[in-house]
Amino acid sequence: MKICITGGAGFIASNIADKYIELGHEVVIIDNLSLGFIENIPAGAKFYEMDINDENLIKVFEEEKFDIVNHHAAQMSVRNSVALPIEDAKTNILGGINIFDCAARTGVKKVIFASSAGTVYGEQLEFPCDETHQNMPISPYGVAKFAEEKYLQYYSTVFGMNYIILRYTNVYGRRQNPKGEAGVIAIFALKMLNGEETFLTGQGNITRDYVYIDDVVDANARALDLNLKGVFNIATGVEVDLHYIFDHLANLTNYTQPKVLADYKIGEQMRSVCSSKKITEATGWEPKMPLDKGLIETVKYYKTKL
Ligand SMILES: NC(=O)c1ccc[n+]([C@@H]2O[C@H](COP(=O)([O-])OP(=O)(O)OC[C@H]3O[C@@H](n4cnc5c(N)ncnc54)[C@H](O)[C@@H]3O)[C@@H](O)[C@H]2O)c1
Repeated sequence: MKICITGGAGFIASNIADKYIELGHEVVIIDNLSLGFIENIPAGAKFYEMDINDENLIKVFEEEKFDIVNHHAAQMSVRNSVALPIEDAKTNILGGINIFDCAARTGVKKVIFASSAGTVYGEQLEFPCDETHQNMPISPYGVAKFAEEKYLQYYSTVFGMNYIILRYTNVYGRRQNPKGEAGVIAIFALKMLNGEETFLTGQGNITRDYVYIDDVVDANARALDLNLKGVFNIATGVEVDLHYIFDHLANLTNYTQPKVLADYKIGEQMRSVCSSKKITEATGWEPKMPLDKGLIETVKYYKTKL
């Protein structure tokens, strides 16, 4: 199939692009390189350096005639969304509408959308929570992701285009930008390898559910099934706090500096842990990478990048 991947110069979508090419699909990447890197784009992919808000996007869609669109381009920092909510909405709501609109108008069969299980529910009432949990996001980023989901469902209802929404918890692993604003495992790993100070926000007590990149790629491969539709969490159901991440990474990197505890940041949830039972039942997908092993793989990767 011919697949458009937005954000394909970034962490998650470049790994998905590798997989789709390996599976024999034709891959076209759209990315404005604001946060991604040209070296992440696989040699076998066609590349448009373009903003997802570009008014000429429709011409690319008309020319290429995609079967599937996998939409990952986004501003993905919760903190940036709190600081600059309008900028966040321009990419994460308006950019999404432009992509879905172009897809619906050019006969795309299915849109796969990367949403966020760590933010669309807001402070959870159940642990782990499933897809039926209430949506009360506490950050502009979470509000935007949820709005984008609803726009995609609107386009699906009105234009008949199939869709799948994959709500990831916190993704980690190779190619995550350790100098970015999000991705605590990447940030800690690089800082520890460089012997720099690390800060544990929320006094280290905030909890997250970390899912490894290969498991996320596997979910995106299964999402190509044209008969599969709906909203699915992509999560491990394992909840750990920042002290756990710090202690394990410090051990793997021989880091001896003390923990520096910092305050909570507005927009960051206290606890996040989700159930992926629904996608397991629908497709057999399960998280295969245990966190401790994933941390070892991730540190190995950043050692090669020093
Ligand atoms: N990393 C996570 O833990 C996580 C969790 C849940 C959901 N997600 C979602 O997954 C997707 C990918 O996240 P990531 O961690 O790979 O981030 P990333 O920053 O590595 O990748 C995002 C890519 O989108 C591109 N981009 C940004 N704005 C653009 C625009 N206006 N036009 C064109 N391209 C643009 C960037 O250049 C970058 O290559 C995002 O939608 C994010 O919200 C990520």
